[in-house]
Amino acid sequence: MRILSIDTSCDETSVAVTDGRRVLSNVIYSQVLIHKKWGGVVPSLAKRAHEERIDLVVDEALEPARLRSEAGKPRRLNWQDIDYFAVTQGPGLAVALEVGIKKTKELAQKYNKKIISVNHMEGHIYSCFVQNSKGKPVRDFNFPYLALLISGGHTELVLFKNHLEFEVIGRTIDDAAGEALDKAAKLLGLGYPGGAVIERLAGEAGNLDFHKFPRPMLKSDNLDFSFSGLKTAFYYFLKNDDFVIPAPCLPVGRKAGIQTGSPIKSGMTKGLRYDLRQLASSFQEAVFDTLLFKTEKAMKQTGINRLVVGGGVVANLYLRKKLRQLVKKYKGSVLFPPFKYLTGDNAAMIGVAAAYKAEKGLFIDPKKLDRIPRMSL
Ligand code: KG4
Ligand code: ZN
Repeated sequence: MRILSIDTSCDETSVAVTDGRRVLSNVIYSQVLIHKKWGGVVPSLAKRAHEERIDLVVDEALEPARLRSEAGKPRRLNWQDIDYFAVTQGPGLAVALEVGIKKTKELAQKYNKKIISVNHMEGHIYSCFVQNSKGKPVRDFNFPYLALLISGGHTELVLFKNHLEFEVIGRTIDDAAGEALDKAAKLLGLGYPGGAVIERLAGEAGNLDFHKFPRPMLKSDNLDFSFSGLKTAFYYFLKNDDFVIPAPCLPVGRKAGIQTGSPIKSGMTKGLRYDLRQLASSFQEAVFDTLLFKTEKAMKQTGINRLVVGGGVVANLYLRKKLRQLVKKYKGSVLFPPFKYLTGDNAAMIGVAAAYKAEKGLFIDPKKLDRIPRMSL
């Protein structure tokens, strides 16, 4: 069963063709460079960029010659090869979601196919089970799982009881974990998005807790998260100590490299009392401690020791190590999405979730298909 899926929930235009859990193509057109200079996603720019690129991305997704012609030669996919269309209905940016939904309706009508609506968070959960075109990694399902979803927009703990059976047992009451890392990075002048830069600086500092920032909600008796207090504490820590908040001028990206071990030069000299690396490390530690604490609490409460983790923050290798240590303590296991389906939103994960919906005949009437920016699981 081949599905062409579209995800335009935020700042990536992505289209994939999947066959069950196997990915035949997965094209992602990231808008990160457009939004970078504004320090976050600008909805009107996101909408325009999705509109400008969607046709090109759909076309590209049909291009990879993963199907064989009768003569055994690779060939481009065509519309007859596609059985269904799937699209992210929410959660996400309203004006961005609309672009993908409109295109899906247009294609479904033109080629007379049914539509499957997918919740973006279902996609992040199923991202741990996405396979390449050869069916790797195999990863059979062994329900129930506890899913930890940590992205730029979401932080949730979800019981994944069976296919398409979810129960949200914890969520952030304000900022998401990735958003907190992005905001801290912005305060430190490290650009956007900041999670990966924070990871690198923290690693250079040895991932230690130099300045004990608050761990909000640890004492609450539920499984909810909160990161805005931590962000505020970080802001006042920098402000009160005359930390020079630099203009976003530091080179970012793995290759550009921030010169460490020597004074950090551009834009931040006088008044800098703290090492950027120590600040990054301490902030990251506070975010991850909170994630780990609530995940462990959920494991104890539910008795489930098998984790699946989705969302961009799990690109963080240090966090992965901590999660592995956690499940080891409970003789459990943890699954992370293959890297290809992790960094950045992608339609492949939407297609995989859609396959289970199609199996159950869960299609949506195009007339009832509208974006749901705050869609919950
Ligand atoms: O899932 P995702 O790509 O998009 C959303 O649906 O939000 O997640 C993006 C988030 C951003 O906040 C980004 O800073 C964070 O994932 N992120 C990381 C790392 N790479 C990306 N956070 C921590 N460590 C990383 N290596
Ligand atoms: Zn996402």
